[in-house]
Amino acid sequence: MSFSAEIDTAKRIIGSYTNHKIVRLSSLVEYFSEPAEVDKMLKDKNDLIVYEYFEKIFKNEEKNMNFGLTIIYPGKVGKEYFMTRGHFHEKSAAEIYIGLDGEGMVLMQSKTGIVELQPLKPNTVVYVPPNWGHRTINTGKRELVFLFIYPSDAGHDYDIVKEKGFAKLVVEENGRVVLIDNPKYRR
Ligand code: PA5
Ligand code: NI
Repeated sequence: MSFSAEIDTAKRIIGSYTNHKIVRLSSLVEYFSEPAEVDKMLKDKNDLIVYEYFEKIFKNEEKNMNFGLTIIYPGKVGKEYFMTRGHFHEKSAAEIYIGLDGEGMVLMQSKTGIVELQPLKPNTVVYVPPNWGHRTINTGKRELVFLFIYPSDAGHDYDIVKEKGFAKLVVEENGRVVLIDNPKYRR
């Protein structure tokens, strides 16, 4: 799909949006388990778009809901699939994902490091409980597209993930999607 086709798709599905964020490989160096591999890719290729999202935000409004659409492109850094940064909500707030296209996984982690992995595919809902970190991974060969809905005053904490990582990584091994321990995870 061309870039303008993505925008048209987002507008058709969620209507007008107030935020469009494009996340490129160069801003994800610390999030992938092999930063050196990211640097190598940046030298060899353009700064690829890993994912983008379109969002309708009601800034910090209690009892309102933000919602939007995320597109994660297919690709890998070494054996680790393209994925979102991932975050915890600052407040104790749940989130709903609804798969629209492609195939992927939602990696969820409690504050004590318990991990859950759930498939995200078309017409499937994934529920992210309050206080669980969440990261979405594209394990397929084309774009992973999904809707998200969460309370407007939830807030996003990216720092925990940047500093400690997730306890597990979703990688490709022998052509299969596998969940492995993250050797760099800090409790
Ligand atoms: O609120 C969510 O969980 C999603 O909308 C994500 O923000 C989106 O998929 C992008 O991921 P991240 O915020 O971790 O960069
Ligand atoms: Ni969230």
